[in-house]
Formats: sequence, structure tokens, C-alpha cells
Amino acid sequence: MFLKSLSSFFIIVFSVILLITCRNEKKYAVEEKKPKIFSSGDPHSYSNPYKISVNHIDLNLEILWDAHILKGTATLNLDKKENADTLILDTRQLIISSVKNKEGMPLKFWLGNSDLIFGSPLTIILEKATDKVVVEYQTHPEAAALQWVTPTQTHDKKDDFLYSQSQAILARSWVPCQDAPAVKFTYTAKIKTKPGYLVLMSATNPQHIIESGIYTFEMEQPISSYLLALSSGKIEFKSLGKDCGIYAEPGMLEKAAWEFADMQKMIDEAGKLYGTYIWKRYDVLVLPPSFPFGGMENPRLTFATPTVITGDRSQVSLIAHELAHSWSGNLVTNAAWNDFWLNEGFTNYFEQRIMEQLYGKPYDEMRQVLAWNDLETTIADMKSEGLSADTKLKLDLKGRDPDDGLSDVAYDKGRFFLCHLEKSVGKKNWDEFLNKYFKAYAFSYNTTEGFLEYLNIQLLDKNPKWKKAANVQEWVYGEGLPKDAVKPVSTELNKVDAALINFFNGKLKPELFDTNGFTTHHWQYLIRQFGKKATLQQVENFDKIFKFSNRSNAEICCDWFTLSVKKGDTQNQLQIEKFLISVGRRKFLVPIYEALEKTPNGKIWAKKVFEKAKSGYHSVSSHSVEEILK
Ligand code: BES
Ligand code: ZN
Repeated sequence: MFLKSLSSFFIIVFSVILLITCRNEKKYAVEEKKPKIFSSGDPHSYSNPYKISVNHIDLNLEILWDAHILKGTATLNLDKKENADTLILDTRQLIISSVKNKEGMPLKFWLGNSDLIFGSPLTIILEKATDKVVVEYQTHPEAAALQWVTPTQTHDKKDDFLYSQSQAILARSWVPCQDAPAVKFTYTAKIKTKPGYLVLMSATNPQHIIESGIYTFEMEQPISSYLLALSSGKIEFKSLGKDCGIYAEPGMLEKAAWEFADMQKMIDEAGKLYGTYIWKRYDVLVLPPSFPFGGMENPRLTFATPTVITGDRSQVSLIAHELAHSWSGNLVTNAAWNDFWLNEGFTNYFEQRIMEQLYGKPYDEMRQVLAWNDLETTIADMKSEGLSADTKLKLDLKGRDPDDGLSDVAYDKGRFFLCHLEKSVGKKNWDEFLNKYFKAYAFSYNTTEGFLEYLNIQLLDKNPKWKKAANVQEWVYGEGLPKDAVKPVSTELNKVDAALINFFNGKLKPELFDTNGFTTHHWQYLIRQFGKKATLQQVENFDKIFKFSNRSNAEICCDWFTLSVKKGDTQNQLQIEKFLISVGRRKFLVPIYEALEKTPNGKIWAKKVFEKAKSGYHSVSSHSVEEILK
């Protein structure tokens, strides 16, 4: 009897221990589920990181300003799986003069066929003991990532300026590397520029010019190749807080510092939401107007367009966005460009939370309504162009330029999905989950499927109601917006609607619109809603009253020029031409050129303007405009 009860006692104790261990094991397995093995190839890279991965790059480059060339060496440290003897790197238009091992002995290598988008694979045959390769190379004067800005194209009009833009797959045009976001490496660099110029990278940066023009850099936190960044020019620094500041051309520095005065507050707020900022410093470099994007989240040093220096702080959300990438993107990275929404959707959501925290709900509601309307238009356009599959969050970009995935879908369908999840499980649970998620995958990457698995195990499986409400399948793998997507509302913008109704009913003259306290967002909304019904005469009249064509705010100019071209207004051609020549941000160029292309005389005129403007555009923008006008 005693023995029997003793044995049952042990059985019970044993079962309980087993149960606890199993549960812990499950929990442990999930929390530690950082993908460390590259299970399959990235569709946009020739490299083979699942056999050999590069874990450190040391660059030694000289900037040859007259020739528009970077010349020197890239030394790559290798992490080899057993028996791996062939290293494949991505290159695009690179001229390779030699590949050696660390003892200086030449290694056998060859460049494969060149593809316009993907470039050429560089195959290197390794010896058994090789754990480092030294590639001696130079870039092509037309390297897709690099923009060699002439003095007249800069703000101060005095000096040359150079900057890189590596995302999505342009890093390979200035560094031979495994150009796949899942591969992370640390880097060091020695860069030689003109005496009197500064050099900056996505690393520890100098704050003063070194007369010799030779700078050294270290990025000891692992990053993906698309975050490699370089810039050089007559650049000055101004501190904005304890660990943040602005770099810009001297004539732009004070304006930029005023515009971004809230930077330290943003860093603090962001840290409160999703964990401390871990990249040591957060600085922003304001580039010449040809920069093709609004911003680029290069670690420790966001690159930004000067078009956000509007003098009214209306575009500071750009800083919130690029800063937010310090968590979503730079820390937890999309495994491949098919999972791009993991970078941009999360970042847009995070940006929204930071903005709401700093500037209040009504302000952010306006931004949400504008984004929602844009997203609806984008989805409708994509459907009519036969691109319905690209309205899914999970993309299939195999064989295509990853640039094709850069649309409102990743950014705003992604963001609204996360808003929907937040609502489905409650803000507190959602924030706890996100905190855990960023910690679990820090310095690693994730696929859409990996994220969904983590979401289910850590959150949705805990409550069937949450799981049902989340409707994950439809949001992620379905086309367009699901039926349970809730359109945002803005009381501020409803006032604009009311004024326009009265205007179109003939009850209110535009001169009498109450525009007191209008922000850029009110104006943008007014222009877009007005455009849906306006006649050419009304357009011309609005321009006389509100002087849209002569505004200095690029967001307003872009919306207005696009609308006036569509309506056949030609009175503001001078202003449009000036805008297209002075600004290189693709987001502004594309809608205006597209509108021009659709009008009978507009296309010929647009081609002439493009000829004049082209030399000032980065390859990313000129490529897009060429596609429109061909
Ligand atoms: N990382 C992107 C820019 C990008 C994406 C470059 C894909 C190349 C390929 C950056 O964070 C971004 O989203 N920029 C936006 C800013 C905006 C959403 C505030 C832009 O450039 O308009
Ligand atoms: Zn972004």
C-alpha cells in the first residue's frame, strides 16, 4: 500500500516536472527563435550566406572627386560552414582588379553575366584556411547608389557633395557584399576625401573637419548591407540634445536645427514605447535637394531631404519615421524584400504612435485620413493596372526590382493592420507584445511567417476572441483592404469638407474660407478633395486666391501642380518647371510627370524639362521618370 502510494506520488511529481519542463521548453524555444540559419536564398541576391556569411567588412576607400569614382579595398571576414569553398558576392558595375587572401596571395575569381537590376555575381574560390578576402576594386562613375552633386545643385552652391543611397539593392554598386537584408555584419572604414571636407557614414561619426581629409569609422553593431551609407562635402554639425544633432551644409544648418528642435524628445518618447534606443547616437544629415527619398534610416545617421525644412515644422513626422526604423528595420529586419511591410508597416505604425504622443490625437488623425485616402487610390490603381497581387502585404517580387514593392500597401496597409491588431487585443497587451518582439529578434531578421507564428504563440492563441478579431489571413495574404478595416475620421478635416460642400453649392466664396490655423495637412486635404470636382476655371481661381503655385512647401506644391496639370491649367508652367528642376525627391516627381504624360502637350514639355533636370536627379528618380516618359 505504502509502496503503491509512494510510486503514485513519484508519478505525479514526475508528471508535474515533465509538464513544467515541456511548457518551459515551448516558451524557451519560441522566445529564442531568432533565425540564425539562412535557410534559403534571397530572391534579390546572388550570394550564398547559408554556406558562407560575411560577418565584418573593412573598407579602405579614396573618393576620386573628378573621376566620380571610389577606389580601394574591401576586406571581408568570413563565417564558413564546413567544406564551403566558394564565396559569391553581389556587385553591380564594379571594376575588380584583384582578390587576395589575408596573406596577399591571389585567389581565383570571376564576374558572372551582368543584369541591369541585379548586377553581376562575383565568384571567389577559397582555400581551406581562407577566412578573409581582400577585394581590390573601384566603382563605376554611374554607380547606381552614388550621387555626385555639383556645386550648383547644392544649397550653398559652393562645393561638391557626395552621398549614397543603398536601399534596396544598390549597396552592391559601391561595396562588393552579400546584398541581402538577412545578412548582418559589423564594419570599419578608412575614407579619404578632399582636404577641408567632412566624411560621414552609418557609424561613429566625426563632428569636425579633419584637414588631412582622412577619416576612420567603426560600426560595431551588426547591420544589413542596405544600411551602408557614405556622404562627403562641406558639412557642419550642430548638437540638438545629449546624443543627437544635425549635419548640413553651413547655410542650411540653423534652419534645419530649428525645424528638428524636438529630436531629443522624439528619441525619449520612442524609447518609452518600445525599449531604449540602443544605437548610441541619433544624428540627421540634411542632403542637397536631389536626394530621391524623404528620409533614409541609415543607422546613427538618418539621411533627409531638405524639402522637409519648411520653416513651420510641419514635416517632422519624417524624423519620427526614420527614428522608428531604429527598432523596426535596423534592429529587427525584413528577411527579404518580399517582407518589406515588416520594415515599413511597423515603422509607419510606430511613427504614428510617436506623433500622437508628442502632438496629440487630432493632429495624427489628419495624417491618418490623408494616408487612408491615398491607400484607397493606390489599391484601385494597382487593380486597374493588373497588379492586384501587389496589394497583399506579403509580396512576391521574385525576378523583379524590389523597388516595385515600395508602395502605400507596405506602409499604410501594414500600419492599419497593426492598428487593427492593437484594437483587437487592447493597447496594453499589444505594447507588451511588441516590446517582447523587438527584444527577441534584436540584431536579427524575420519573415512574415515568422512574425505571424510569434504573434500567434505569444498573443493571439491566448484568447480565441482576439484570434478571431485579428483576421490575420485576410489582412496579410488577401488583396486590398479587408472589410473589417476601419476608415479613420478627423474632425479637423471634416471642417474642410463642410467648407467645400458650401463652396460647390455656391453658398461660400473661397475668399471667405476660414483657413485660420490651417496646417499643411489641412491644405493638402483641401486640394485633394477640391480636385475631385473642380473645373479648370475654379482651379485657376483657387490659385489666385490661395497662391498654391507660389508656396515654398513642397508637399503643397506637389499636390497642387499634379491637380492643375490634370485639369489642363498651364498658367503655372514656370513654377512647375522650377520645382521639377530644383527637387529630386521621387515622391514629388512621379505624380507630376505622370499627370503631364497624360495630357497631349504635357508629355513633350515634360521631356524637355526632364532633359534639363536629369543631371540633378539621383539614378533612383531618373529611372522612375524615364519609365513614365518612355
Ligand atoms: N527606408 C525608406 C526609404 C526607402 C524604402 C528607400 C525602400 C529605398 C527603398 C524610408 O524609411 C522611408 O520610408 N522614407 C519615406 C519617409 C516617409 C514615410 C516619412 C520617404 O522617403 O518618403
Ligand atoms: Zn521607412
